[in-house]
Amino acid sequence: MPTLQEILTDTAEYVAWKLEEGETSAEVSRAILDELVVSSTRTSGSPATAAAVAQHAASIPAEQNAEKPSVVSGASSTLPPATTATSPMADKGKDMKDEMRAAKLAAIAAAVRSCTLCPLHADRTNGVPGQGNPNPDILFVGEAPGADEDAQGLAFVGRAGQLLTKMIEAMGFTREDVFIANVNKCRPPANRKPLREEMDACLPYLRQQVKILQPKVIVAMGATAVEGLVPESVSQKISDLRGHWLTFEGIPLMPTYHPAYLLRNSAMKKPVWADLQEVLRKLGRPVPKRSTSG
Ligand code: URA
Repeated sequence: MPTLQEILTDTAEYVAWKLEEGETSAEVSRAILDELVVSSTRTSGSPATAAAVAQHAASIPAEQNAEKPSVVSGASSTLPPATTATSPMADKGKDMKDEMRAAKLAAIAAAVRSCTLCPLHADRTNGVPGQGNPNPDILFVGEAPGADEDAQGLAFVGRAGQLLTKMIEAMGFTREDVFIANVNKCRPPANRKPLREEMDACLPYLRQQVKILQPKVIVAMGATAVEGLVPESVSQKISDLRGHWLTFEGIPLMPTYHPAYLLRNSAMKKPVWADLQEVLRKLGRPVPKRSTSG
């Protein structure tokens, strides 16, 4: 059973989310209360984290970049299927779960934007928490923000991001269906590779995001992202790692090349497409033979 503290923490996050949305009253039905208890049960286990998230939730500034929850495409899957909403009550529960996830993600985003845990914060314009669907099948993870991302506070919005959008669409998804984030949330000077200690300082944010998002699959893009998420892989080349499943927090992780690398080496688009086809197979989704991503 969740503790009273955990239930109150989740309730505080829900109310903070509603206030942030500009709502001054909220319907609190039995179904919502039941869902808070269920959600607390699932997310309990780290009172310190829950307390930190709640503390940030209480001080969230107007969230310019948070996206509203949207419905995930209802794909069949070879993995355990997500709970299917079958009644108005269940629909309410699902909306509620997405709202809870979005509220928790917004709290993490706020924490990222005010983070000073490593020296990278000193030169940033914006922290880049990542964005997308709060209940995604796939989480795409890159290395760290570049100049465009730093300027806009959003992950993968520059040229590499445009190619990533095409890759996602070639898989039969939209950017709104998936979640896109980075190992490091602040831009390193001159886009240098983040140091191990900078990755370690930042990784708790991604771990918290993964715990909330519960993606079915993680796609780690580029050697640095793979190294950040699976430190044991450091001695192996990305050319050997790609195409072979690893895990992060128990979730299947597919290493592949970074879209920025593909911009310089278009011959590598073929192996990346093979990796993404493998991801679709894992999800039990239709696997297009040819990529239309160019
Ligand atoms: N490269 C990355 O690794 N992440 C971004 O968000 C943009 C470019």
